[in-house]
Amino acid sequence: MSAESREGVAERVVAWQAVHGRNHLPWQQTRDPYRVWLSEIMLQQTQVTTVLDYYTRFLDRFPDVSALAAAPQDEVLGLWSGLGYYSRARNLHRCAQQIMTDHGGAFPRKASVLASLPGIGRSTAGAIAAFCFSERVPILDANVRRVLTRLLGFDKDLASAKNERLLWEHADALLPVRDLDMAMPRYTQGLMDLGASLCTPRAPKCSDCPLSGDCVAFKEGNPESYPVRTRKLSRRAESWQLLILRDGQGRIWLQRRPSIGIWAGMHCVPVFPDVESRDTFVSTLGGDRQLVQQELQPFVHVLTHRDLHLHPLLIQANGMIALAKDGDWLGPDQWPSVGLPAPIRKLLDTTQSTLW
Ligand code: ADE
Ligand code: SF4
Repeated sequence: MSAESREGVAERVVAWQAVHGRNHLPWQQTRDPYRVWLSEIMLQQTQVTTVLDYYTRFLDRFPDVSALAAAPQDEVLGLWSGLGYYSRARNLHRCAQQIMTDHGGAFPRKASVLASLPGIGRSTAGAIAAFCFSERVPILDANVRRVLTRLLGFDKDLASAKNERLLWEHADALLPVRDLDMAMPRYTQGLMDLGASLCTPRAPKCSDCPLSGDCVAFKEGNPESYPVRTRKLSRRAESWQLLILRDGQGRIWLQRRPSIGIWAGMHCVPVFPDVESRDTFVSTLGGDRQLVQQELQPFVHVLTHRDLHLHPLLIQANGMIALAKDGDWLGPDQWPSVGLPAPIRKLLDTTQSTLW
């Protein structure tokens, strides 16, 4: 999308919101961050019609953040009773107390700071900062995610954090560029309203939509196929070659796994993605030394998102072999103290009884 059409999108959302959007909800009659924050937390998992009564009662009892912070938790939970998702109420209370103790009783004005408070995620932080302070930051709640993925034809799987980040970047690029004091609250509300009224999960009313001329999903004729999110990343099978190096004293060469990924930070025998890279490594080991090799029984280890097909090769080195300093020779008495993944532990235990 060109810079001009991006700008056009924001302007069309703003103009549409002024005429067709919701402009009389109680939390829209104020730029007080306490009131806006309270509404956004209540609206996170609850419909507008249900929130209205609770919102009024809550503000009657706790008119500002200091009153809320000073209240007993039971009373906060009591007023929340019926809204569900009670962790929201507990976080709300903690957040109010944190604003009193860490922020001098005033809400931070920047989304990046708001997002560090209990119960305030990136999208809620963006909404508060845009509504109250006209900060130029995006939101990405479920409604807005639907509108933007359709508009952009963004068909990547949002189950992946990388794609989610990418969509945030697109949301950022679409933000209004002028008249931000007026435009940011209206644009933010406009995207929410579009998602709630026209760009609905089923049968969106594209013919009434101010974005249909820009909308990829509308042109493709398949808005309902967005957003794309698999429930779980589908299971993958992966094959690992395990190299069990044993020295003359029965010790095994163990390395610490990288700090991210499978078995992060635990100790493990060297892992290779294929036989070729394993054998290349093995060929560097012995020099002219005679190494005894034995393929052990392959087995499958099931992880949440992966089936690991493990192929162990046991190599007996009689005496020392030179290895880079990225591991240690550890004997059976040391294995319990270093943290081995259970299947590796079992495998090594069975090698103990492997005779030559
Ligand atoms: N859902 C979340 N925030 C909202 C708002 N400001 N207006 C209507 N619905 C919402
Ligand atoms: Fe959603 Fe249709 Fe509008 Fe595209 S044209 S944003 S699919 S309502």
